[in-house]
Amino acid sequence: MEPLRNYFKDIAIHNILDVGTGNGGFLHTLQNTFPGAKITGIDPNTESLEIARQNFPDVTFLEMEAENLKFEDDSFDVVSISMALHHLPKVKKGLKEMKRVVKPDGYIIINETISDHLNPAQEVHKMYHHFRSHIDRMLGRFHRKTFTKDAILQILKETEVPVQFFFEHRRNVNLIEDEADLELRIDKMKQMLEKIKGHPEHDALRLQVDEFRTKAMEHGLQAATNLVIVGRKKIFT
Ligand SMILES: C[S@@+](CC[C@H](N)C(=O)[O-])C[C@H]1O[C@@H](n2cnc3c(N)ncnc32)[C@H](O)[C@@H]1O
Repeated sequence: MEPLRNYFKDIAIHNILDVGTGNGGFLHTLQNTFPGAKITGIDPNTESLEIARQNFPDVTFLEMEAENLKFEDDSFDVVSISMALHHLPKVKKGLKEMKRVVKPDGYIIINETISDHLNPAQEVHKMYHHFRSHIDRMLGRFHRKTFTKDAILQILKETEVPVQFFFEHRRNVNLIEDEADLELRIDKMKQMLEKIKGHPEHDALRLQVDEFRTKAMEHGLQAATNLVIVGRKKIFT
């Protein structure tokens, strides 16, 4: 992410904590933005951490929740969270913990998919994502719909994380190149539906699969816009 690299190009960053690191989807961006920095990734999901360990041997991974970080106050130059804010059962508690463990002159980076400012192909992606999050919730997993841009900025205001810089990141790549790609997505949706077979909402969700097919054929499918925010622990003038 070029704006992030430019922002940090003259700032010395030695150690980073990536919260909700999962399979490590944000680690390449962190490694490119902060070459040579020591990175620790935390996530409560054991299987995801196993995959991340295989792919990023130089990163330290620990099983932990954002809302209860087992680090001393003021430990990291940067604390990041990518695509995981809407997975946190207690978002504000998680952000307060991130703020606690970042150094007084450190930075908080948030990379989060948003539900507004989307073109029609991205709206199709939102439909797919919200279908998944709906089924996750029915299965008892915490997974909310994505936040709007303003909702994220408001949460940061309420958790007193001063925002220093933000930008919207769009990839403009059609994720469905041919019919086979579309069928793969639809198969995934059908596999998810299988998990809630017999549930009263099953039929309504099945209709969403048909709607997804129609809209994806009409508009294509593009990843939703991400809001990327650089926040601070306190206001610097
Ligand atoms: C969509 S993945 C994002 C992974 C990665 N950060 C990325 O950008 O691709 C969301 C991650 O949030 C994690 N998560 C869920 N609840 C969490 C919590 N309470 N604290 C920290 N991470 C959590 C999930 O286990 C999952 O790995």
